[in-house]
Amino acid sequence: MPNGVQFNDQYPDITESDKLYARATGLMPAFSQTMAKGPTQYVNGVAPKYLQRGDGAHVWDVDGNEYIDFNMGVGPISLGYNYRPVDEAILRQLADGITYSLVHPLEVEVAELVREVIPNAEMVRYSKTGAEVTSAAVRVARAYTGRDKVLCCGYHGWHDWYVGTLPRDRGVPQAVKDLVHTFTYNDLDSLRNALDEDTACVIMEPMVFDFPAEGYLQSVKELCAQNGTLLIFDEMWTGFRIALGGAQEYFGVDADLACFSKAIANGMPISVLSGRAEYMQLLDSEIFFFSTFGGEALSLAAAKVTIEELRKHDVPTQLAGQGRTIMDGYNALVEQMGLSMVTSCKGYPARTLVTFNHPTLDPLHIKSLMQQELIKRGVLWSGFHNLCYAHSSADIEYLLDVYEDVLPILKAALSAGDVLSRLHGEPVQPVFRKTGDFNTKPKEK
Ligand SMILES: Cc1ncc(COP(=O)(O)O)c(C=O)c1O
Repeated sequence: MPNGVQFNDQYPDITESDKLYARATGLMPAFSQTMAKGPTQYVNGVAPKYLQRGDGAHVWDVDGNEYIDFNMGVGPISLGYNYRPVDEAILRQLADGITYSLVHPLEVEVAELVREVIPNAEMVRYSKTGAEVTSAAVRVARAYTGRDKVLCCGYHGWHDWYVGTLPRDRGVPQAVKDLVHTFTYNDLDSLRNALDEDTACVIMEPMVFDFPAEGYLQSVKELCAQNGTLLIFDEMWTGFRIALGGAQEYFGVDADLACFSKAIANGMPISVLSGRAEYMQLLDSEIFFFSTFGGEALSLAAAKVTIEELRKHDVPTQLAGQGRTIMDGYNALVEQMGLSMVTSCKGYPARTLVTFNHPTLDPLHIKSLMQQELIKRGVLWSGFHNLCYAHSSADIEYLLDVYEDVLPILKAALSAGDVLSRLHGEPVQPVFRKTGDFNTKPKEK
């Protein structure tokens, strides 16, 4: 019998996962197209590596083990797997076609909907991935300002301009690297010192796991405006999640351009660049930003229904409620068990992060033990609670019961100092996408 979402006696049988992994070894560098889904992020030897299907907030691996998923495809699954209204819209569209030789009406319809729900979305363009629209936004800013330099804060995708700020920057030309620098979130001086007369744009995630200090985002906006620099919000995570209109709506701060993907189409690949017409209209004839699949209709059909469903059911409010229960519940358990110095849960409720700190032990080993024990109990977890509409109160209650069961195991391992020897596999590696401390390449004086 495969493991289910219950307090299982055994760790799951992952024979079929391991067979696929063996086949991929030597064939597929890094094993995964998305780092956060790859084997480095899960305890090798215990965690499944391949998922077969999903329904609601639950998923089944290739060995038939069932889990409640707290990753949701690393963001895109906003309503749930197998969500009927979206799937039916995709099937209806499939009967009519996928990609055409002229523009499809859905391109207009979805743009109108985006304009309705996203502040300042006077004009709208699509692409397929987050990295494409952040890169397009940077190009718009450079074209509008006639300047070359970029300041960023957060993660923005795999393209040269951004990856040049990271330690893993092989293959990025020095000339590109010289144009992009980072700054520290919630530190206006860090931004002030980095801005100069050649700064085309500031591109940032308006919030990752730390809330903006009072007035911070507004001050960033003002500093940019004073400097003739465009402000771009990368709303890949906050968009359609923190509020329907994303961080611009939630924090009441207007960006010049904003980029979206992930939650907008419940798993289908589409990204959106939106913003003030003054800047966006450069895409009419001056800036080149075109790609074969940009107007692919299945994803547009999915986006249309996903946005309508998110609005109809006020999903951001529901996610906030469920997420608050998890965050408060986790932090209360940790407090009761005297573990507050070691672990806590933070973020905006729809997307929270469990952090680990220890004066002598490696936090990744502690995280690995937690993950191993959650997986045994049917919870697929890599340190985050990425919520979707289908996460039920029963799912949340179950998660908190599991934490109540697992935290004492962690506590005992910490007291005995034997965290590593309790692991039945290899510990997880650091997340590539940083969760804070984004100032990886400050501008040198
Ligand atoms: C904030 C943010 N920006 C940009 C991206 C890049 O998106 P993609 O992986 O679709 O290119 C991501 C991906 O996780 C992201 O989280």
